[in-house]
Amino acid sequence: MELPPSLRHAVDQALEGVSTAQLAAATQALSQRYRNEVRDGRMHLSDQLAAQAYIATRMPATFAAIHSALAAAAQRLPEFSPATLLDIGAGPGTVFWAAQSVWPNLEAATLVEASASIRAMGQKLAAANTLQAVTWKDADIRRGGADAAPADLVTLAYVLDELEPTERAKLVDALWTTTRNLLVIVEPGTTAGWRRILDARAQLIGAGAHIIAPCPHALACPIAEPDWCHFSARVARSRIHRLAKGGEVPWEDEKFAYLIASRTPAAASPSRVLSPPLTAKGRVELKLCQPDGAAAHRLVSRREGDTFKQARRADWGDLFGS
Ligand SMILES: C[S@@+](CC[C@H](N)C(=O)[O-])C[C@H]1O[C@@H](n2cnc3c(N)ncnc32)[C@H](O)[C@@H]1O
Repeated sequence: MELPPSLRHAVDQALEGVSTAQLAAATQALSQRYRNEVRDGRMHLSDQLAAQAYIATRMPATFAAIHSALAAAAQRLPEFSPATLLDIGAGPGTVFWAAQSVWPNLEAATLVEASASIRAMGQKLAAANTLQAVTWKDADIRRGGADAAPADLVTLAYVLDELEPTERAKLVDALWTTTRNLLVIVEPGTTAGWRRILDARAQLIGAGAHIIAPCPHALACPIAEPDWCHFSARVARSRIHRLAKGGEVPWEDEKFAYLIASRTPAAASPSRVLSPPLTAKGRVELKLCQPDGAAAHRLVSRREGDTFKQARRADWGDLFGS
């Protein structure tokens, strides 16, 4: 997955002239804060260099993960086409770009972000977008800043981990109230990220939401630790991305967990593939989350004809079955 060309170009322009050594140091500092889930009262993206490090090294990855989650929503609800987006903790506007790429008929977006430096960066990037009905709001979502007008699509990507555990449920509740159709939550694909998704899932089911993806059911999650439910998106690394990270490989895999909650039900879901399929001659082994609420390993052999062909094509995160 690559950033859309106009965004890629805007990112390159915003990084012009920045020293690679400074960018690499800022990238390292940022990734340590994210990895250790530091919550010390300071914003991770508190200055221009941190914002530049984010758009160089994190935005391509969060874009890929968010795009996968939104595409999964679109696959489950093919009739859905949001006119309005409300994105909370928008950073440089990653969700806005991904949502527009999945739903090109998007008409207006409200992006809530507390950090002035990443908001300024997001505004600069958004100037390269054809959609100009974008409103940026400076608000701290812990203090009710999320009380924006209801939107068809409400999103919260890579934000729950920056909040205290006690603040999360209140925010999810407030966001569900503002959701006209879909609420999408994306988190890092760690066990901690998955647990936050599970908490939100239980809360939203309790509030009457229909879980559209990735779960093919609303029963208890069948996955037990040390296993956890997460997915992966392959991200193309630009030259500056590689330089900032000090790596040579032209891609990386972004692991993520997500949840799509809907006001309206979707058609019954097939199973979801929970890990990379294991392929051997004449057979494919799939780890599935099934509509009956169970997780199971399914061995599909060549004798199963079309089902085998579908299994051969299936990838981690895909739907499988009919
Ligand atoms: C990891 S970034 C994610 C940005 C974007 N959603 C993405 O996925 O690329 C988290 C964003 O949430 C913002 N944020 C964190 N706590 C916030 C708060 N209390 N109020 C508003 N924004 C907040 C941060 O400033 C940061 O820009």
